[in-house]
Amino acid sequence: MHPILPIEHDFPLQALNTFGLPARARHYLRVTDASQLDRLQAEPGLAGLPRFVLGGGSNVLLTRDVEALVLHMAIPGRAILGEEGDRVLVRAGAGENWHGFVDYTITQGLGGLENLSLIPGTVGAAPIQNIGAYGLEIKDVFHSLTVFDPALGTRRTMRGEDCRFGYRDSIFKHPEGASLVVLDVTFALPRAWRPNLRYAELAQELAHELEAAGVAGPTPRQVSDTVVAIRRRKLPDPAQIGNAGSFFKNPVVTSARCAALLALHPQLVHHRQPDGSEKLAAGWLIDQCGWKGKGIGAAGVYPKQALVLVNKGGATGAEVLALARAIQDDVADRFGVMLEPEPVFI
Ligand code: EPU
Repeated sequence: MHPILPIEHDFPLQALNTFGLPARARHYLRVTDASQLDRLQAEPGLAGLPRFVLGGGSNVLLTRDVEALVLHMAIPGRAILGEEGDRVLVRAGAGENWHGFVDYTITQGLGGLENLSLIPGTVGAAPIQNIGAYGLEIKDVFHSLTVFDPALGTRRTMRGEDCRFGYRDSIFKHPEGASLVVLDVTFALPRAWRPNLRYAELAQELAHELEAAGVAGPTPRQVSDTVVAIRRRKLPDPAQIGNAGSFFKNPVVTSARCAALLALHPQLVHHRQPDGSEKLAAGWLIDQCGWKGKGIGAAGVYPKQALVLVNKGGATGAEVLALARAIQDDVADRFGVMLEPEPVFI
């Protein structure tokens, strides 16, 4: 009735987290089909185990072995579902590589995701922290997703309002949603595409490239190419240098707090939010504390972008954690701002 699930024990996770940290999973299941989760519920010895859902491993900090059943989401599939009003619905399985999916939509003639090109990780992980870059967040192009709810043993569809998206945040990062397993995600992309060039650096670089090439545009592909070029220049490639992208969120403070900080630090980088609050550049704060290019043990601060912590080779999770704490302390002492980490800590 229940074919044996291919569960592994004491499974190495070093190749499955982009920091390249040497942790192991007590139990491990590569989930290639949602039906495996149904079967898991029916296995007496397995149904009650604590679980940890792993996508591309690009937003986790493994400080120790994972004493749980790691569900490594590898469900494949990409499809254009059809039109809904002035949008085209496109769906992908949770295990699809994010950039591969962005590339697929562009090749299919659909724009809308190009600003999120080259973000490491999987489609299923994208809504967990509402990934964002260059003036676009997942929530802006999100339609719905399917989750498996282990408490009920059933699947259900969740719309944007159910997911409670915020800046690098969603219900899945909170106790109410932490046990839900994302199986697939559907995006609503515009039929009539227009470039999103709100991010000044992207607009400038794209204009420069189009002019140099003497071509009209832009097209979604050209925007994607420019985003890829900017990211390659600023951010380390996890295949070469272990990292998890931005290690801290950009802190949001009140306008009064921002004004007080500006009086002391006129160069403070800040961006006004629609609600009147101010988002500060965590990279700038860390940079000002002199951490760029420095580190603790084999854990370092990337020399070209202080917001990214890197594994210089052979780092342990404890070293990365110690570095993160030291940075938080310095930024708190100097600016009175507590930096909040972006990755999930184990
Ligand atoms: N800055 C410094 N020193 C540094 C780094 C940055 O002075 O070492 C200054 C920059 O000069 C700039 C400002 O800080 O004025 C902001 O830097 P940048 O435009 O590079 O963006 P960011 O705020 O550091 C955020 C996202 C990135 C995303 C970029 C582009 C967060 C936590 N990070 O970075 O997301 O790619 O904007 O949209 O929101 C990620 O989440 O993993 C990630 C890479």
